[in-house]
Amino acid sequence: MAFERLCALSDLPEGEARVFTVGEWRLAAARSGTAVFVVEDRCSHDDGELGQGVVHGLTADGCEIECPRHGARFDMATGRATHMPAVAPIETFESKVEDDTIWVDVPQW
Ligand code: FES
Repeated sequence: MAFERLCALSDLPEGEARVFTVGEWRLAAARSGTAVFVVEDRCSHDDGELGQGVVHGLTADGCEIECPRHGARFDMATGRATHMPAVAPIETFESKVEDDTIWVDVPQW
C-alpha cells in the first residue's frame, strides 16, 4: 500500500461523487470539507458504476452512495452494503488531504 495522488481538493466538489483512475484502480470519491471517502467504482451486485450514483447523507463522518443501476446503497466509510439488492461489501481506501491535494492509499500491483 502507498499513498498516491487522487486529485486536487477543488476537483472533488462537495456533495457529488466523482470518478478517478489511480494506477489500476477505478475509484469513486465524495467529500465533506476535508473528510474524503473513497471506494472502488464497482457495485458488488452486478458491477454498476457507483461514481455515477447519488451520494446520500454526506457529513464529515460518512455517507452512502447509491448504485445507479438497481439502487443498492453502500456506506462509503466502511464499504458495507446497506440496501438491497447488494449484500456484499465494496472495497474502501484510506485517504488524506495535504494542502490542496487529496491522497489515497491503494494497493500496488
Ligand atoms: S449493479 Fe448495483 S445495484 Fe445492481
